[in-house]
Parts: sequence; C-alpha cells; structure tokens
Amino acid sequence: MADSLKAVVAGGTGSLGTETCRQLAAAGYDTIALSRHLPDSPEPEVEHRVADLRTGTGLEEALTGADLVVDAVNEVRSPVEVLVEGTSGLIEQCRQAGVGHFIGVSIVGCEKVGFGYYRAKTAQEQVVREAPIGWSLIKATQFHELLAWAFAGLARYRLSPRGPVPLQPIAVDSMVRRLVEIAEAGPLNRTEPVAGPEVSDLSGLARAWQARAGRRCLPVRIPAPGKTGRALRSGALTDPGAATPGPTFAQWLQSPSPPVSDPPASG
Ligand SMILES: NC(=O)c1ccc[n+]([C@@H]2O[C@H](COP(=O)([O-])OP(=O)(O)OC[C@H]3O[C@@H](n4cnc5c(N)ncnc54)[C@H](OP(=O)(O)O)[C@@H]3O)[C@@H](O)[C@H]2O)c1
Repeated sequence: MADSLKAVVAGGTGSLGTETCRQLAAAGYDTIALSRHLPDSPEPEVEHRVADLRTGTGLEEALTGADLVVDAVNEVRSPVEVLVEGTSGLIEQCRQAGVGHFIGVSIVGCEKVGFGYYRAKTAQEQVVREAPIGWSLIKATQFHELLAWAFAGLARYRLSPRGPVPLQPIAVDSMVRRLVEIAEAGPLNRTEPVAGPEVSDLSGLARAWQARAGRRCLPVRIPAPGKTGRALRSGALTDPGAATPGPTFAQWLQSPSPPVSDPPASG
C-alpha cells in the first residue's frame, strides 16, 4: 500500500469502529477515529477527535485530506436523525473534501424486517447508494459481541431467549478483515454481504452462551408475530452464500478470556 493514506472512521470508538481503526492502522493508514466522546483508553496508533454527525461539528477539519471514510456510527434511539440525515451530511462533507472512497455499513436483511431501526438502516443504505463519490456498502450479520451482550443483559434477569430464528453471527474481527480488503481494493460501487461462517438458531446460540457463562436461566420464547416474525423465522437475517471465514459463535466463546459478560457493543 502507498504510504500515508489517511482513513477517517466515524464512530471509531464503537464495537465495529474500534476494530476498524485497529486494523486500518495496522495496514498502514493514518487513522482518525471520530466520536462525540473521547475514549478512556485511546488506541495508541489512532488519533481520536470529537465530531458529531447530528450537528456536523468537527467533520470538515477531520476529513481534510482523507482518502477513505468508514461510517461505523450507530444510534438506536434517533436512527433517522443520525444514521440517515447524519450519513447524508457526512457524505456531502466527504464530497467537498475530495474523499475517494466512502464505506457504509448496514445489516443483512434489514429491508425485510419492519423494526423502526431496520427501516432507518434501509433508508441509510439508499443514501449510501446515491453517494456522489466512490462507495462500498457492506451488509453484515449480527456480531458475536452483540449477541453476547444481549444474552448477558437478559441473564441479569435470569432469562435466556428461545425461538426458531436463524442467525448467522460473525466476529467483528472477521467482518473488519473483509472491510479492510474492500478498503484496499477501492470503491465497489455496490453492496457486499458479509456473514458469519454458519447459520444457527437463536435457541442454540443462547444455549451455547449459557453453557460458557455457566449461568442458569429460565428459557423464554421471544414472540415474533406477523410479517416481521415470518421474515425472521424464514431466515431474513442470514445469507448463507456470504459465509465468511472466522470463528463460529461457539468457537468464539471458547477464546481464552471468554467474552461472556458485558462487551461495549450497543448496536
Ligand atoms: N452490532 C452489530 O451486531 C451490527 C451488525 C451489523 C451491522 N452493524 C452496523 O455497524 C455499525 C456500527 O455498529 P456498532 O454496533 O459497532 O455501534 P456501537 O458499538 O454502538 O458504536 C457506535 C459509535 O458511534 C458513535 N456515535 C454515536 N452517535 C454519534 C454521532 N451523533 N456522531 C458521531 N459519532 C456517534 C459512538 O461514539 P459516541 O457515543 O461517543 O459518539 C460510537 O463510537 C452500525 O451501522 C450498525 O448498524 C452492527
């Protein structure tokens, strides 16, 4: 790779953003992480700056001279303002700064599921596809870290979810390896699905987490009514053709420091 390409990762302190910054810096990019709050333990190879997608604060300065911008921002409470309008503003700032490649991140099957957050993700995808600069859109499945966080949250109430919902989770690390390959290759100007190595159902994933965490919980069936329920049960959140090498959820749980309690994910 040529020296001193500059990468800016919006949301660079989140689950996806932290690993993206780490791997881009390791690949030789001068890497800037943007977030509203500076982290307590900054990544040593990464420059952290304050910026807000909702107001546009800090974007112009951070994007000057950037070659690559990755949008790893997440917001579940005001997804339209931040993920749709905020991403639109970020792309416009990228255009003005002459950024060559914008990478957006969305979710496999979000267009088939009627949750408000998923509708905002679908609208955000359209904003990325209409970008007036080179773009790539990665649609990822749920991260192992997100499932572990959700299972740990329910286990606090001694509950464990069950349901015939196929999922195909992926380790953030595996997902980011593919993201960096796309960054190095240049804009795809199309959507690329990136999914975990195997499809498992929610019940099996929750049981695996419980076994590793050694937690006794009451199994509770998650209701999934109507069209959204049918979509979830029929595998809307999976894409077997996009299986990506890396640890399965069960293998990931066996890592030496088992990530079975609260990771920093919030998506
Ligand atoms: N988690 C999953 O399983 C999963 C799966 C597939 C796709 N994705 C997608 O991956 C992306 C990242 O998700 P994630 O789970 O890594 O998110 P996350 O851990 O919740 O991190 C969110 C990041 O966004 C920053 N942020 C939030 N609001 C902001 C704003 N207004 N301006 C600037 N920064 C802001 C946060 O820092 P501050 O709060 O300090 O600003 C943080 O750095 C999202 O697009 C999500 O849909 C996630």
